[in-house]
Amino acid sequence: MSVIETRTSVRTYTDEPVGEEEVRRILNAGFSAPSAKNIRPYEFIVVTDRKRLERLADTGDTAAMLKNAALAIAVIGDTGKQPAAELLIADCAAVTENMLLRIEELGLGGCWCGILRDGSWYPRVREVLGLPAHMEPVSLIAVGHARRKRRPKDRFEEEKLHYDVY
Ligand SMILES: Cc1cc2nc3c(=O)[nH]c(=O)nc-3n(C[C@H](O)[C@H](O)[C@H](O)COP(=O)(O)O)c2cc1C
Repeated sequence: MSVIETRTSVRTYTDEPVGEEEVRRILNAGFSAPSAKNIRPYEFIVVTDRKRLERLADTGDTAAMLKNAALAIAVIGDTGKQPAAELLIADCAAVTENMLLRIEELGLGGCWCGILRDGSWYPRVREVLGLPAHMEPVSLIAVGHARRKRRPKDRFEEEKLHYDVY
């Protein structure tokens, strides 16, 4: 099995820090993702400041794990470089998954936090990260050393497969 099959979301972490070199390897996995027209309209914010992580976490359950994460990586898309919203989100999603796979490869744990534009968390994320108007937050990845890890399940779903036509 490769990291593609062994990866699971990890939401509880030990206090052990994540090294600078590991963070750079995670970021490099993000930079290696495919991108529409190779525009690569994304930028990353590495958040290690504990107060900022707590402020990011305290608005909702879905991102509560940020409070205990060693760090978070915000994947933000530049709407000036890629005005097509679908492509901007697709590019940032590819980046996010690449980073999660590298996190798994490094023996760390990560979790993808999605950001809904019309959700209550959205303005908070913008404010805490100090985003200018043209930068769209697409995901926040919580990163740390896993306190516990679930065993991955076989998710192959035969009934979702179609050949040649629906
Ligand atoms: C677009 C997207 C948004 C997600 N947002 C959240 C989130 O806000 N909070 C969270 O705990 N998990 C979030 N997840 C993780 C999913 O809950 C998780 O991937 C799913 O339950 C399957 O579990 P697994 O990652 O362990 O395979 C998100 C995943 C994706 C792809």
